[in-house]
Amino acid sequence: MKKDFSEALGRHEQRFGQAGLAFAAPARVNLIGEHTDYTGGLVMPMAIGFHTVATIGPREDGRAVFHSENFDEEASYEIASLDSKPEGRWSDYPAGVVWSLRQEGVRIDGFNMTLSGDVPVGAGLSSSASVEVATAMAVLGRAHFALDLKAVASLCRRAENEYVGAKSGIMDQFVVAGGVAQRAMLLDCRSLEFELLPLPAGVRVVIANSMVRHDHATGGYGDRRDEVETGQAVLQRERGIELLRDATLADLEACREKMPAVSYARCRHIITENGRVLEAREALLQGDVKRFGELMVAAHASMRDDFEASCSEVDMIVEIALRQPGCFGARITGGGFGGCTVNLVDVTKTGEFVAAVRSEYRAATGIEADCFVCEASDGALALAKDGTA
Ligand code: GLA
Repeated sequence: MKKDFSEALGRHEQRFGQAGLAFAAPARVNLIGEHTDYTGGLVMPMAIGFHTVATIGPREDGRAVFHSENFDEEASYEIASLDSKPEGRWSDYPAGVVWSLRQEGVRIDGFNMTLSGDVPVGAGLSSSASVEVATAMAVLGRAHFALDLKAVASLCRRAENEYVGAKSGIMDQFVVAGGVAQRAMLLDCRSLEFELLPLPAGVRVVIANSMVRHDHATGGYGDRRDEVETGQAVLQRERGIELLRDATLADLEACREKMPAVSYARCRHIITENGRVLEAREALLQGDVKRFGELMVAAHASMRDDFEASCSEVDMIVEIALRQPGCFGARITGGGFGGCTVNLVDVTKTGEFVAAVRSEYRAATGIEADCFVCEASDGALALAKDGTA
């Protein structure tokens, strides 16, 4: 990562009159494997070069004081009495991490923290996991307390599930904490074992933001999860299958009449998606970009039709992308109901691709889409005193 974060350190110093320790956590994009993580399934995300920087310094009164540069707001909590009481604002995420770290037995003294960053919010690129992991790294760094990747990802997920109240899986926190530059991460969300896979030379990952906002805590994500869990419970009862991860399409078919039609469709998406992730792994190992692209297209159709987590604007931007020369695959990425698409594009065609997608999407919807040509970057890390990574 060659990014200069010195400004973030400088702003912490200006605000709190103290030098700070700084940690940066990236955003992520999921290449394939959507809505599979919370049923123990397979995902293939990569970390990308947008970051949250958490800069931390001491204070004497036992309080955790957060200042968000992006919101230009402060939030203050007494650490010893921090309870799971979300307020529905940005500070729930860092406060939730402090709460979760305390549950983990980490002793936390008072601190000031400045949070800043360039992760697009509400776009499906994991701005929340980025804030969580940056906060956890900073608090742990100051407390001289080391936790491994699984523990950091799990405690950040707990903050989001139990404090913020968003029922997300582990994918985002895991890859934000542990991603590796130039590699996609195939994560088994049951065992938390992972494999780092080479990304093919000659293509770039391009993200296109439909600019349709979604909100995990209140949006359709929770509904989908409930529908999936209803189906999973039927599979448990009827077939003794604990996690949807272990179900086949034949198992699902055998239970079809015993579950609501929507649960059947949601589970079918997840079962077929786990299969696509394994095929995508093979495609990457063989450098077969064409096959990988086809799997992305099939994954989008499944998210749209079986999971019903796309929307007309996102379907439109996928269709536009697939018409462009040099585009191997395009699909919705993240929780859904808006947000971003991920596209695999010939490296020599990215400029034309971005220009064409933006202008055709503007003509069709009147919306200006942000597009980013990305590389897989490293997960969270401590910054040097001068703010370099
Ligand atoms: C969100 C959640 C993840 C995952 C994806 C869908 O990003 O935070 O845990 O469920 O949606 O794949």
